Amino acid sequence: MTTAVYPGSFDPIHMGHIDVIERARAIFDRVVVGVLDNSLKSCLFSAEERSRLVRESLPSGSDVEVVHFSGLAVSFAVSQQAEVIVRGLRAVSDLDSEFQMALMNRRLEPRVHTVFLTTGFTNVYLSSSLIKDVCAHGGSIAGLVAAPVETALCHRLAPASRTGHGAVG
Ligand code: PNS
Repeated sequence: MTTAVYPGSFDPIHMGHIDVIERARAIFDRVVVGVLDNSLKSCLFSAEERSRLVRESLPSGSDVEVVHFSGLAVSFAVSQQAEVIVRGLRAVSDLDSEFQMALMNRRLEPRVHTVFLTTGFTNVYLSSSLIKDVCAHGGSIAGLVAAPVETALCHRLAPASRTGHGAVG
């Protein structure tokens, strides 16, 4: 039985992430999504909120586990008895930093292997920051994130023109 962890910030999860999770689940026996709880990184949503949004974005009946973690991704992988860290690649430009991280992770924990999965063509341009920016400026993010994420984002980032109250958080 091969376990893979998929660590990330997921602030918030979008369709590109879901695509990677589904591809990982098709390959590995057990998939654990690890939501990074890092006080040094400022996120729009708390680790609990991000984990809840990941769970709510997955199809009902999905057997993918979702937990939040702090510390090193490799330590998280070992704590989950995982042999694999999954990372998604959108474009060649992602490879630079991902390659660096994969090699550092291998140095830290040679038993854990990094596997890169590419997202589908329809999702290659998606990023959480871009989606937050579009939403904050009143653009539609329908179809780019699951419905619960769209609701949560609109609630937190709704521009003044849409709500009459201004942005929150
Ligand atoms: O979704 P992101 O922000 O691209 O994910 C980055 C993440 C969480 C995978 C990376 O920052 C990470 O692994 N952080 C945990 C701390 C760690 O292991 N740092 C060393 C990486 S070589």
